[in-house]
Amino acid sequence: MLAIGVDIGGTKIAAGVVDEDGRLLASTRRDTDPEDPAAIEDSVADAVEELRRDHEVGVVGVSAAGFVGRDRSTVVFAANIAWRDYPLGEVLRQRLALPVVVENDANAAGWAEFRFGAGRDVEDMIMLTVGTGLGGAIVTDGRLLRGASGAGAEVGHLRVVPNGRACGCGHDGCLERYVSGTALVRETRAALETDPDRAAHLIGLAEGKPKRVTGPMVTQAAKEGDQFAVDMLAELGRWLGTGMAALSAVLDPALYVVGGGVCEAGDLLLEPAREALDQQLFARGRRPLPTIVIAELGNDAGIVGAADLARSH
Ligand code: BGC
Ligand code: NA
Ligand code: ZN
Repeated sequence: MLAIGVDIGGTKIAAGVVDEDGRLLASTRRDTDPEDPAAIEDSVADAVEELRRDHEVGVVGVSAAGFVGRDRSTVVFAANIAWRDYPLGEVLRQRLALPVVVENDANAAGWAEFRFGAGRDVEDMIMLTVGTGLGGAIVTDGRLLRGASGAGAEVGHLRVVPNGRACGCGHDGCLERYVSGTALVRETRAALETDPDRAAHLIGLAEGKPKRVTGPMVTQAAKEGDQFAVDMLAELGRWLGTGMAALSAVLDPALYVVGGGVCEAGDLLLEPAREALDQQLFARGRRPLPTIVIAELGNDAGIVGAADLARSH
């Protein structure tokens, strides 16, 4: 059976037809306004209709950046999109006249990596998506962990710093405030103001305006060898490794898969993470170190994972 996967992001919707081997047969995208649930639904419906014209599809899986309830239909809360206890699955089901299953965005991406990507050879892995927020997917013994209410695996809200940076979830010190594209940009902009000499190369890339600095700019500068940018990414990487050490104490995964926009930085992010994990891992020296790799499926992971999870629901 073919399934459509729909990935609802902060600025765009990407959708595709996925077969049982995780292959993307066709895809399309629409721009979207995260403040406007009705506009999001219009775009999803439009994209799905387009894909259905050429493919016989049995089910739609939707990946959304928020907590999804146990019913796999209600978005309970989303930090960056205007959904609160929102019956997204039900609304789309009525509109599309097809079964619809909703999944947390990181869970969808992690499932795709587990089935068809970097995690295909292990049974225990954790995916971390470093983007606007920090998403998590936990696979233990070959199963996706959802928790009692569906809000499990919210790794971004693991509290790593007592009285730390304020988070969109209402708490402070959450890992996401230290490991995300948002954190990278905010910290870099702040450092540009306080340390303009070291930041000269980046200030040049941003045409003299700290507000114009973006995450990809920092990655580009670091790849060009700019030490300031390398340090900014290394700071993120160390926090990533700190989070992994905490997760390993509880879940003992064989593998960490790192995805999301910031993973473009590759080893500039992963090497500091490996070092921090090595230093902080519980019972280090008496157990294998988990492997840390970059995700393989890139931007398609959300589509592929949502489709596969919907098909097997
Ligand atoms: C949200 C998660 C989401 C992650 C990545 C976090 O802020 O709480 O539900 O998976 O961002 O989008
Ligand atoms: Na998750
Ligand atoms: Zn939080």
